[in-house]
Amino acid sequence: ARYPVICIDGPSGAGKGTVTWRLAQVLGYQLLDSGALYRIVGLKAFEAGLITTDASQPIDESAVLALTKSLKIAFVPNNESGRVDIIVNGQAVGDQVRNETVGGYASQIAVFPKVREALLTLQQDMATRSGLVADGRDMGTVVFPDADVKVYLTASAEARAERRVTQLVNAGQAADFDSILATIKERDDRDENRSTAPSKPAADALLLDSSMLDADAVYEQVKRHCQEQG
Ligand code: C5P
Repeated sequence: ARYPVICIDGPSGAGKGTVTWRLAQVLGYQLLDSGALYRIVGLKAFEAGLITTDASQPIDESAVLALTKSLKIAFVPNNESGRVDIIVNGQAVGDQVRNETVGGYASQIAVFPKVREALLTLQQDMATRSGLVADGRDMGTVVFPDADVKVYLTASAEARAERRVTQLVNAGQAADFDSILATIKERDDRDENRSTAPSKPAADALLLDSSMLDADAVYEQVKRHCQEQG
């Protein structure tokens, strides 16, 4: 049987995670946070010494590929938190992948076609068990080209940097708008201009700019689009 798939693609900070989570809850679908896969590989590659904090250093693609293939990755729904835990080699990957440094590592290894290919079946298999809401960069273009619903959610880099600053400040952390903006632009640039599976809207995606919208408004528009698509 083929289950419905909803793809939410776009750059980081556009609000994909929130809308994906709400849709999955309301529809009773599974959630695929594909960025987490790239983040895990990025973090493991860093820990293995395959990438450094200097993004201009060349990376050994075949070594990253071997490392990717050696990871046993599983997505396990957590009924307590209501979220999906990612288990790598038997260990839960916590919030340690959710920071901009690891986001940068992720985008450095995400340029490698063979690494992406190694992660493909794992992602596609998630749609063989139940409905799926998938968020990432290439869900609608590469991983689920015949998905039922595709949305490309964007926002200006400034709006996204502003949100990030608010998040950090609310968490009691220091935040510098200019350096956050520069980091966002650097990652966007790498993700949008790589030759394999660049971040871009599928031809049949709804383009939604969340710069002037709050999370509720984004959710309502995406929900309406899902209803229109049947
Ligand atoms: O979405 P998130 O910020 O967690 O993604 C981290 C990085 O992983 C992105 O900047 C991108 O380089 C990569 N990625 C990707 N394809 C996806 C999801 C994420 O290349 N489907």
